[in-house]
Order: sequence, then structure tokens, then C-alpha cells
Amino acid sequence: MSRSVTVLNGPNLGRLGRREPQIYGTTTHDDLVLRLIDYGRELGLNVDVRQTDSEELMIAWIHEAADKRTPVVINPAAWSHYNIAIADAVAQLEAPCIEVHISNIATREEFRHHSVISAYVTGTIVGLGLRGYELALSWLATS
Ligand code: DQA
Repeated sequence: MSRSVTVLNGPNLGRLGRREPQIYGTTTHDDLVLRLIDYGRELGLNVDVRQTDSEELMIAWIHEAADKRTPVVINPAAWSHYNIAIADAVAQLEAPCIEVHISNIATREEFRHHSVISAYVTGTIVGLGLRGYELALSWLATS
């Protein structure tokens, strides 16, 4: 039986491909979902990719992962920089959690430099584009 991993994408990531392509690339969120499911299959992982612009729904999904002890890959998007409720939810995860940012938040506007989530995750992958999600899955598959 494959191990399950949940990939959670926060606000505006549903617009990947159309949103600031010079920063986030031209791959759509639907394409990202297919790519991660396929890559997960190669790694022996059952990958469930979800995206929401709703804070309430994101917190419910994190609670679900906490209750099931499912490893998580999360891109909290703009919430990374200020949302303590999302950070508090992530802090409840006992299985590994990897935070991914497509862009290099350290080289962008000052308000993006700090993530309130990072203190509660196992590790962070920043600035490697969509490959960051695959690298997170690969790490989870081998640890
Ligand atoms: C992002 C970086 C955030 O600053 C931004 O708000 C996003 C995407 C990234 O993946 O690079 O929505 O998390």
C-alpha cells in the first residue's frame, strides 16, 4: 500500500500559469496536480493535492492531516507572512511537514522575507520553482 502525502496550496496558487508568470512560471495548478500525482506514483506515494483561498478550509485540511498523521507539503502563499492561525494549525502536525515557496522569498519584497510558518515545519524549500514540490515529495519518500 502506498504512503499518503497531502500537498496544500494557499491563496492565489490556483491561478498558477496566469499569475505573474515571470515569477511563478507558466504551468497551471491543474498541470502541477497531475505532475505531482505522477511523480508521487514513481516514488510509491499516494499524493493528494489541494488548493484553497479559504483560511477556514485550509485550517480544516491541516487538522485532518494532523489527526491522520499524514505528512504534508504546504505552500501557505501570502499566509506565510502573517497568519498565526495557519501557523498554530501547522504546529499540531506530528508527521513531517515541508514548507515550499516557488519563488525565492528572501530576494523579494521585505514583507515576504519572514515566514511565521517556518518555525513549525521540518524543513523549507525556497526559490526552486515547481521542482520544490517534487524535491519535498522525494525527501518524504525516503525518510
Ligand atoms: C509564494 C511566495 C509568497 O510571498 C506569495 O504570497 C505567494 C507564493 C511562493 O510560492 O513563492 O503567493 O508562497
